[in-house]
Amino acid sequence: MEAEDTAEINQIYIDFLGRNGKLTQELKNLKNVPIEKRPEVGKLANEIKITIETLINDKKKSLKLGKHEERMERLDITRPGIEPKRGSLHLVTQAISEISEIFQSIGFERVRYPEVEWDYYAFEALNFPEDHPARDDWETFFIDERINEKYGPMVLTPHTSSGQVREMEKSELPIRMLNLAKCYRRQSDVSHTEMFHQFEGLVVDENITIGHLKGVLDYFVKSYFGEERSARIRPYQFQFTEPSFEVDISCGICNGKGCKLCKEGWLELGGAGMVHPNVLKAGKIDTNKYTGFAFGWGVERVLMMKEGLNLPDLRLIYSNKLEFLKQF
Ligand code: FA5
Repeated sequence: MEAEDTAEINQIYIDFLGRNGKLTQELKNLKNVPIEKRPEVGKLANEIKITIETLINDKKKSLKLGKHEERMERLDITRPGIEPKRGSLHLVTQAISEISEIFQSIGFERVRYPEVEWDYYAFEALNFPEDHPARDDWETFFIDERINEKYGPMVLTPHTSSGQVREMEKSELPIRMLNLAKCYRRQSDVSHTEMFHQFEGLVVDENITIGHLKGVLDYFVKSYFGEERSARIRPYQFQFTEPSFEVDISCGICNGKGCKLCKEGWLELGGAGMVHPNVLKAGKIDTNKYTGFAFGWGVERVLMMKEGLNLPDLRLIYSNKLEFLKQF
C-alpha cells in the first residue's frame, strides 16, 4: 500500500469499504447475481473485504511506528531537564515521626485504635459519669443515633485515651503503649481545631509509680525540646487518673525565670496521672498486682511550643496555605 499518511488510508477505507464504497456496492448488488452463484461470489467479496481491512490496519501501525522513530531522532537528550517541584512532609507529619521515635527508643510500642469509636471506650470504661459535659453533643461528634446495648452510641473519638482499655483487653502485660491518632471535638477557635492529634502513653506493670511517670516526661521533654528544658507536674483532675496532673515545661525563652510569653517561667503541655483503679478493672487487670501511669498531649500543641512559633491561630496548620507551610 503506497499511502503516506493516515488521512490517505482513511480515504482508501471510504473508497472501498465506506457506505458508498466500491466493495460495499458490489455486496449490495449480490442480490442480482444468479442464486446458484451467490455463495461463491459472496465468499470472494468477503475475502477481499478482509484483505483490504488487514492491509489498512498494517499500514496504520507501520505509519505510527515511523512517526515514533522520527520523534526519537528529534529528541535532544543533552538538553537540561525540567526540575520537578519538590514537596515535603507536612510539619505535623514530621512531628509525629519525631515523637514516635523518642518513645520507641525507650520501649514504647506505637499502636493505633479506631477513630470512630464506641462511647464505652471513649467515656464509660474511663470512669466518666453519665452526665459528664464531655459526653454532650456540644463537645463530641456523635455519628450514629443507634445505641448499642453494651457499647452505647458511636462517636468520633475526642481523645486517644479511648485506646487505654482496648490495649488492656489485649491481655499482654506489661503494657508500654504509645497511641498516636486523630481526635475530634466540636471546637474551633485560635487555639483549637475540630480535628487534631494526640499522643497517649500508657504503662501498666508491677510497682509502677509516679517516679516512673516523671522520668518518662523528663526524658521526652529533654529529647524533644532540648537538654536545658525540664518538666514539672501539678495537681489536676481527670476522670480516668488518680492522682491526676497537668504537665508544664520550663519556658524556652526565659529558662524558667518568667517572661512575657510564659509569665511564670512554665508553659502548660497536657494531662497525665496514675491510671484509676476503675479503668484497670474495666480492662480486667488485677489491681492488687498492677499499677500504671498515662499521659495524653496534643501534637499540634507540642509542635507550637518547640518551634516557639507563637502562632496567632492554630487553624493555620491545616489551612493548606503554602506560604505558611513553606516556612518550616
Ligand atoms: C485529654 O484529652 C486527656 N485524655 C489527656 C490525658 C491522658 C490525661 C491520659 C490524663 C491521662 P485534654 O482535654 O486536656 O485532656 O487534652 C489534652 C491536650 O490535647 C491539650 O493539652 C491540647 O494540647 C490538646 N487538645 C485538646 N483539644 C484540642 C483541640 N480542639 N485542638 C487542638 N488541640 C487540642
